[in-house]
Amino acid sequence: MIADKILTNLNQIFCPIDKGRALRGSEMGEANIIRQGFIAIREGKILRVAEGDPPVSLIGEHTKIIDCSGKTASPGLIDSHTHLVYGGTRENEFAKKLNGVAYLDILKEGGGILSTVKATRAASFAELYEKTAKLLEHMLVHGVTTVEAKSGYGLDWETEEKQMKVAHELDHRLPVDIISTFMAAHAIPEEYRENPDGFIDLIIEEMLPKVKADNLAEFCDVFCESGVFTAEQSRKLLSAAKKQGFKLRIHADEIESIGGVSVAAELGATSAEHLMVITDEDIDKLSQANVIGNLLPATTFSLMEDTYAPAQKMLDHDMAITLSTDSNPGSCPTANMQFIMQLGCFADKLTPIEVFNAVTINAAYVVDRGDSIGSLDEGKLADITLFDAPNIDYPLYFFATNLVTDVYKKGELVVKNRQMI
Ligand code: NIG
Ligand code: FE
Repeated sequence: MIADKILTNLNQIFCPIDKGRALRGSEMGEANIIRQGFIAIREGKILRVAEGDPPVSLIGEHTKIIDCSGKTASPGLIDSHTHLVYGGTRENEFAKKLNGVAYLDILKEGGGILSTVKATRAASFAELYEKTAKLLEHMLVHGVTTVEAKSGYGLDWETEEKQMKVAHELDHRLPVDIISTFMAAHAIPEEYRENPDGFIDLIIEEMLPKVKADNLAEFCDVFCESGVFTAEQSRKLLSAAKKQGFKLRIHADEIESIGGVSVAAELGATSAEHLMVITDEDIDKLSQANVIGNLLPATTFSLMEDTYAPAQKMLDHDMAITLSTDSNPGSCPTANMQFIMQLGCFADKLTPIEVFNAVTINAAYVVDRGDSIGSLDEGKLADITLFDAPNIDYPLYFFATNLVTDVYKKGELVVKNRQMI
């Protein structure tokens, strides 16, 4: 078959091994790394990836040959945990944090997530759209081609719906795929301060059915944390969501360990997020229940804690893990997936192969898109990230600098020389 485009002379190509599920334990250290090779693209999909020069059988009159000498390619990076759409910013809390005020104490005083809720309720659709489009552009130029986006800064139907609709519109208009997660259970709204159970009931009875009816989200998530939602409330909400046809995630063991991991294991959640303070026993629970651990090291960094999730131990216990930004205005204001990957090495002590697997093939399974993205197998979408780097180790070793030069989304060049086209 004739290719539309061929990226040639690539120094290295990172090819994850797709086993039809997330890679776990020692499997995460395995990949095919092609040296001096090419990627052929046809109709927005991968046609062939191999070593050496492309054979003449792939080249037709209209085939575009793109010389990529000196570059390294990977499947498009997947950011599988973000709080993407929100009003306002929270740099005012930064000084407080530097003075040692704890994240959960800021929330208790009505700041934190609740201050972003005020700003998000006040923002118009157009304002949110423009603001989020800029954030997505930052993500794209840093090599991301797929983003998971949670609601959760409305805590009322009108604003939750507005957030999810903004995400939908951006999914249609920008060259990035957005997977939507409904997370009204992100904080207890002021209106329900004395009645959090009533808020959980409201979500179950009134909001979830509307999300489903309008197809606004695939996943349901909850913040199971001390001072936010208990394990019991999280279990009730996620069980109801499962019955209504949602796939599940849970923010668990971010700051305190209060039982969210057991809920994830019992209900068969796709992923459990954060896991900074997880116990050994709970690591086994997730491993046995095939729940993917979604680690967010830049949140630990930004909260100025030293409680990085025990990634090594998770792999030793045969868990599958991914790495994501957790991009949000409070606990992790960043759009740079490469920094997350670097923290995967510097803080979590993962190897470059483990890190690349985490943000490609495993992240694809976290967003339930393993059949179409996450590896460079024939027939998958031609989502490709090119690094100005001689090998896959280099972008992890040379840190805090954007080394992504070009990004292809569904076979189209969308970032060229570090700029959106
Ligand atoms: O994943 N933990 C809850 N949610 C976010 C923080 C959101 C915020 O601070 O605005 C997180 O860390
Ligand atoms: Fe989060």
